[in-house]
Amino acid sequence: MPLAELHCHIEGTIAPDMARKLAKRHKVKISHIFGPDGNYQWSTFPEFLKTYDTVSSVVCTPEDYYDIAFDYLTRAAKEGLIYSEMFVSSEHPEDVGLSFDAFLDGVSAALDDVEAKTGLVGRLILTAIRHRGPERAERTARNAQLHPHEKVVGFGLAGDENQFEPKDFVRAYEMASDAGLRRTAHAGEVAGPESIRATLDALHPERLGHGVRLLEDADLVSRVKDGGVTLELCPGSNIAIGIFDSYETHPVKAFLDQGIKVTLSTDDPPFFHTTIGQEYAAVEVAHGLSRRDMMQFTLNSIDAAFCDEKTRKRLRALVETWIRKNI
Ligand code: ADE
Ligand code: ZN
Repeated sequence: MPLAELHCHIEGTIAPDMARKLAKRHKVKISHIFGPDGNYQWSTFPEFLKTYDTVSSVVCTPEDYYDIAFDYLTRAAKEGLIYSEMFVSSEHPEDVGLSFDAFLDGVSAALDDVEAKTGLVGRLILTAIRHRGPERAERTARNAQLHPHEKVVGFGLAGDENQFEPKDFVRAYEMASDAGLRRTAHAGEVAGPESIRATLDALHPERLGHGVRLLEDADLVSRVKDGGVTLELCPGSNIAIGIFDSYETHPVKAFLDQGIKVTLSTDDPPFFHTTIGQEYAAVEVAHGLSRRDMMQFTLNSIDAAFCDEKTRKRLRALVETWIRKNI
């Protein structure tokens, strides 16, 4: 089954073994982030973000970025992933003294090699980290203006939704738009519908990262639906963070029933003990969805992707051919 994902953080794809390997390579001590089973250990959302930062601190060279992107995408391609948009932050490379160009060269070379080897098409979303504040976000957006790159197609805002206000990031988004980047933003993940409203008002995103608390506000549901805003849903992530108890109680089906455009992604797969194949399978089983329903997630992702139109057409044809042959 062809799968597509729009919401996956590059450092969030690092498997614990890869993190240990990179930590050894750079002589960084990170043993405190692992539990007795060898997996990442964290309990609250802020703790998860801290663990994420620690894992990011072992990615230090263009080769490291190549390795993590190549490792994740080749694994995901085996599950059927045909298109991936990855969130990349220039702030983590900056933290370890790596230039924007050098870091992008590493990631971009991995995307090229993965596409040549598996056919999976990868694109990048330059992402500001909300809790680091607007000035840092503007520096990130400035990178997009100064160093345009064909694979960087969007601008995003991740990090702690409870810090700062969406309006604080208006200038960063304007700079990113000037650089030709499309807009997405995390909202309504750990905060409620008021956060989604403030994000739509200030940043005008075409897509929302998560947006799962949308259903608490009927007016907002209409606004998202009428505005054609697509949700980047990551059910396994929401369950691991404690927003919902299970795939059965996750509102993915309610969104479908309301006619809202939704897609499926992993967010930070090894942190949440999931993969893109598992996300599709778990949603299919929990909500009794048909293969055709499942393919609608992939088609929605392709429709809302920030890639060029030629690539979109090619990916759409690939999925439609699969549907004709298999459903
Ligand atoms: N950075 C990495 N994963 C994230 C998430 N789920 N929410 C906000 N920021 C993130
Ligand atoms: Zn995310």
